[in-house]
Amino acid sequence: MEELPTISIVGTGYVGLTTAAVLANSGFKVYTVDIDPEKIETIKTGKAYFYEEALDELVERAIETRNLIPTLSYEESIPNSDVVFSCVGTPDREDGSHNLDYIYAAAESTAKVANDGLVFVQKSTVPVGTGRQVIKRIKNVREDLQFEYVSNPEFLREGSAVYNTLNMERVILGSDSQEAMDRVEAVYKKIDELCKKLSGVNFGEYASQYIGRKLKAETKSFEDRVYKMRLESAELVKVSANAFLALKISFANSIAKLADKTDADINEVMDGVGSDTRIGRAFLYAGLGWGGGCFPKDVSGLISVANDREVGMSIMEAAVDVNDSMVKYGVEKLSRHIKDFSGKKIVILGLAFKPGTSDVRKSQAIKLANKLVELGAEVVAYDPKAMEEAEETLDPSVRLMNSVSEAVDGMDAVVLAVDWKEFVDADWSKIKAAMAGDVLFDGRNKLDIDEMMELGFRYEGVGRR
Ligand code: UGA
Repeated sequence: MEELPTISIVGTGYVGLTTAAVLANSGFKVYTVDIDPEKIETIKTGKAYFYEEALDELVERAIETRNLIPTLSYEESIPNSDVVFSCVGTPDREDGSHNLDYIYAAAESTAKVANDGLVFVQKSTVPVGTGRQVIKRIKNVREDLQFEYVSNPEFLREGSAVYNTLNMERVILGSDSQEAMDRVEAVYKKIDELCKKLSGVNFGEYASQYIGRKLKAETKSFEDRVYKMRLESAELVKVSANAFLALKISFANSIAKLADKTDADINEVMDGVGSDTRIGRAFLYAGLGWGGGCFPKDVSGLISVANDREVGMSIMEAAVDVNDSMVKYGVEKLSRHIKDFSGKKIVILGLAFKPGTSDVRKSQAIKLANKLVELGAEVVAYDPKAMEEAEETLDPSVRLMNSVSEAVDGMDAVVLAVDWKEFVDADWSKIKAAMAGDVLFDGRNKLDIDEMMELGFRYEGVGRR
């Protein structure tokens, strides 16, 4: 049998745990290392500590086959590993830039116990220039250690993390060492092989059981999806990609405001604009704007790095301004029908930063809920996955409900804040019948206007009405 390298993944967040579970299911022996005992204990029981489609199943299987070894100990994992993926978090600093303390701590703790020949792979999103700093820190800890550093930014999206990891669109590798990049490429090739197997006939059942949706066969060969480049280039690919996507959304939202003033429908406009293959329809969906653990931090991080190097990044500052304005814009749209919010009963459907996740970081839905409370409204909310995580940032006066039908009962206005399928496909005639009022703000532009008007709603979207 082919001898596979042993892998350690440091950090068990969305990126770390998903990568660990997929690699373990691809046949690697994988240590998943974290400093949080609670997280490690949960993973040991065969499940993730956050919701992500198909992840529990993959973790369970990897624990059963003993390919996945959760541990708190660097001493247990690192000396046995040929490749270490660093996937630790980079919390926000006050100025919005990345706090790199965990990045450096993970590298230093690894260096202390590593053996010669290690490839240290940075998967966490870090500002350009960080890799060189990490290399320096490792050398400070262990001058004699023979290791190579590879920047390998991650592009998975929350809500489809497993799917994206298996169905990789591209692998970006940046390093001074060609050989190190080849070694990491070989690891990814195994994931690609697993993906092919899962989309094959014999594994069809496995795929539908564990992945929940069909994996598509990539049209490009694996080799054509691997991009090897300079270390700094790879670092800049990641934040630039996220910044561009955020820019696209803010662009769509700016045009949406104009659409509202001109009676155009932003969905129609962006269907037309996005049909140009040079532009593309993706990420041109107007609505309450972007949130999450990535776009807000990566965009402000990019602005801050650019400022440090005296490069203007006003294009991204404008994107942030537009995004910040969208919650207020949502309130404005509601106020076309609600002159005074005090005592008005408003239900917010969705609290996560987007559908398919329990993550509420920088959630525009929560900001809107809190804003409405501030204006005196009586706010209730329901989210299929994110209510527990929402409690920390949501105003305590917001009442959390257990279902759509419970939440909408007797409400004056309903806000579709997150486009969970459960909400978009709901029986809106029942919702209307259960409500006391008739105001509907579709903060994600996902509902059919004519249908909603026929049901008797007074409909407002973002860039359409
Ligand atoms: C984003 C990127 O899409 C991933 O490629 C990247 O790997 C990841 O960040 C990361 O850096 O780790 P994610 O934050 O999971 O992924 O979420 P997205 O699906 O990109 O959505 C971001 C936000 O934009 C959400 O709040 C979503 O509701 C909003 N959005 C997205 C829109 O308002 N309009 C759109 O057209 C698309």
